[in-house]
Amino acid sequence: MAGTPESGRAKTALIVGASRGLGHAIAAELAARGWDVVGTVRDQAARTPLQDLAARSNGHVTVEQLDINDPNQYAPLHERIAPPPWTSCSSTRGPRTTRTPPSGRFPPRTSLR
Ligand SMILES: NC(=O)c1ccc[n+]([C@@H]2O[C@H](COP(=O)([O-])OP(=O)(O)OC[C@H]3O[C@@H](n4cnc5c(N)ncnc54)[C@H](OP(=O)(O)O)[C@@H]3O)[C@@H](O)[C@H]2O)c1
Repeated sequence: MAGTPESGRAKTALIVGASRGLGHAIAAELAARGWDVVGTVRDQAARTPLQDLAARSNGHVTVEQLDINDPNQYAPLHERIAPPPWTSCSSTRGPRTTRTPPSGRFPPRTSLR
C-alpha cells in the first residue's frame, strides 16, 4: 500500500468508476481522511460529482479517463498517473472482455484501511 503512516507519505487510492455512486462516496471519504485519490470516469467532458470533489481538493483528487471494457486504455492510464504502489478498487461490475489487464500493470484490489 502506498504511503504508510510510518513513511510520512500520503496514501494513494485508484478508484475505477468514481464519477458517482459508491465509487464517488469512497473517493470523498478517502479524500476527507487525507488520502490522495485518482478517480476514473468514462467521459471527462461530463460534469460529475467527482469533478466537483476534485475542484475542492487542492490537487489531492484527480480525474482520469478509463473505460474498463477497453483494455487498450489500461497502459496509457498507468503511464499518466503516479507510479505505484496505490490501493485500488473498482465500483464497476468488471470488464466485459475475455482479456485480462497486463500482468503487473494494476495491483490486485486490496482493502481500504
Ligand atoms: N448502490 C448500492 O447500494 C449497491 C449495493 C450492492 C452492490 N452494488 C454494486 O456496486 C457497483 C456500483 O454501484 P453504484 O450504485 O455506485 O453504481 P452507479 O451509481 O451506477 O455507478 C457506477 C460507476 O461505475 C462507472 N462505470 C460504469 N461502467 C464503466 C466502465 N465500463 N468503465 C469504467 N467505469 C464504469 C460509472 O462511471 P460513468 O460515470 O462513466 O458511467 C460510475 O462511476 C455496481 O456493480 C452495483 O451493482 C451497489
